[in-house]
Amino acid sequence: MGKDVIIACDFDSAEKTFRFLDQFTGRKPFVKIGMELYYAEGPEIVREIKRRGHKIFLDLKLHDIPNTVKKAMAVLSRLDVDMTNLHASGTIPMMKAAIEGLTRPDGTRPLLIAVTQLTSTDEETMRHDLLIERPIADVVMHYAQCAKEAGLDGVVCSPKEAEVVHSSCGKSFITVTPGVRFADGDVGDQKRVMTPAEAKRIGSDYIVVGRPITAADDPVAAYERCVREFVD
Ligand code: C5P
Repeated sequence: MGKDVIIACDFDSAEKTFRFLDQFTGRKPFVKIGMELYYAEGPEIVREIKRRGHKIFLDLKLHDIPNTVKKAMAVLSRLDVDMTNLHASGTIPMMKAAIEGLTRPDGTRPLLIAVTQLTSTDEETMRHDLLIERPIADVVMHYAQCAKEAGLDGVVCSPKEAEVVHSSCGKSFITVTPGVRFADGDVGDQKRVMTPAEAKRIGSDYIVVGRPITAADDPVAAYERCVREFVD
């Protein structure tokens, strides 16, 4: 599994996105397209970024009945993305249907990653809103195991959870970790953060980095610093 830095392109227009990506004249970074950009610009933004030679993590976090998710995944698979995701709380039948939909006629498919509990959900919210009484670590672990059982490739989790996901689901089960900050940088609204170097040490497979790169004075230098700390 190749370790990589994924840049979260959280922009609301194609124009802003390309103004940002045009600065990268050497290496083509792996980019994450989330709901904001996808809903603003539609599938053409995915095709155009792909044409420019970037790998794409399409972060739309699907969650619906199995048949609907299967059909939606078939459409996303034709966009030729490299990685996409869904909510593990959609249950194992939904996750299995997603894999069926995602698999192309030649047997290949994008990597499929599950969101366990969002990092914005804490134990109190789980208890009050979702009636889940267990510790959040148990819930994350259980959802990761369900994702593995359904045949998924890995989970999105906080950097702090990557080690325990690997020990329970195996080293080859991918961990994609947001919440990454430079040691001398702003934390912003992220609560549980790690530096790229720490994320490497605890065994994250991919780090997702947004504002530390997109809001930097020199985004290319910030990206290269992430790559140096995390990959090289
Ligand atoms: O700007 P920042 O580095 O905080 O961006 C992190 C990215 O990862 C954002 O696109 C955010 O939506 C995403 N993300 C996250 N925490 C999760 C899942 C996704 O921060 N649990």
